[in-house]
Amino acid sequence: MKGLILCGGSGTRLLPFTFSLPKQLIPVANKPVLCYIMEAFKKAGIKEIGIIVGDKGEIIREKLKDLAPSGVHLTYIKQAKPLGLAHAVQTARPFLKDSDFIMILGDNLFGQSLEEALGIFWEQEADSLVFLIPVDDPQRYGIAEVENGQIISLREKPLFPRSNLAIMGIYIFRKNIFSAIERIGPSWRGELEITDAIQELIKMGGKVVPYMFPGWWMDIGKPEDVLEANKKILNLLTAPENSFKNHLVATPLCLVALSTIVKESKLKGPLIIGEGCRVIGSEIGPYVSIGPGSILEGSILENSILFERVKIQGLKSPIKDSIIGQDVSIIKGNKGEAKNFLLGSGSFLSF
Ligand code: TTP
Repeated sequence: MKGLILCGGSGTRLLPFTFSLPKQLIPVANKPVLCYIMEAFKKAGIKEIGIIVGDKGEIIREKLKDLAPSGVHLTYIKQAKPLGLAHAVQTARPFLKDSDFIMILGDNLFGQSLEEALGIFWEQEADSLVFLIPVDDPQRYGIAEVENGQIISLREKPLFPRSNLAIMGIYIFRKNIFSAIERIGPSWRGELEITDAIQELIKMGGKVVPYMFPGWWMDIGKPEDVLEANKKILNLLTAPENSFKNHLVATPLCLVALSTIVKESKLKGPLIIGEGCRVIGSEIGPYVSIGPGSILEGSILENSILFERVKIQGLKSPIKDSIIGQDVSIIKGNKGEAKNFLLGSGSFLSF
């Protein structure tokens, strides 16, 4: 069993951050989303991992030199254009060869291990296993219809959904998915859709088994999703039973790196502050992640993510519900209402 993580795509809904950083490297509780997926693979014993990359592949490769879990072997696979999920699978064929594989979209976060699903896939001798989760608004998702323990149809964002079972972005396949992909054409949006390929697999007589995911799941497609994911992970990370390398629990629910200096400040967890930061005369939290090397002086921050090396000094109004890219500086600023920023990497703000 090999692993495949899809990190191509354009990430347009997460501009301006995706000008300089692929979506899958966006930090959630100070760790790129992609790293959580790799850890889940490692835990399930999957060590051969292919990573589909687009034009920001070099940035991913550089970052993972330090961050990839030990013992996994990574192969980078270039997808020339984001022509769809099924196109990405097709592009990975020389890496996947005849192996079974589990594929995960690189912007997915989930709170449950993969072992149970792998067990069901083998036990049922399925051709494919598709992870599903019930949702309240099925018109917004790819939706599967299940009958007698098998998936009988899949539809992208149906106007009249036949179920509320959303297709998450985690799939297990055998090599016969390649034959199914060869038989489909591009959709109205010009992409080779994985839902069409699975539908084709069903038509070919393939056994496509649903897996009702028992944990939580989210993707980080939009800024509000990223903030929501940050909340979720911070709640889990700062739970009293967890330990965290190089961090101490300053007060309950607050993880502060040992090399960070916090003076004359109020911390209200859950929150995390990375290595080498300086926090002085500030009020931080709840639900704040501050990346390494950041400097905060006289700042008030709530429900926000700061990437690496952010500097905020002398801003008199609180910052809320914000995502602030790396190497951003915000200095001065008059007292006023809470500010809500989405600032791409390298921005400089003074007002
Ligand atoms: P999407 O979120 O569907 O697409 P996107 O990343 O281009 O984002 P946006 O819609 O905001 O422009 O992609 C889901 C995941 O699959 C994401 O991790 C990127 C990856 N992907 C590929 O690797 N190749 C592709 O051809 C496509 C479409 C997506």
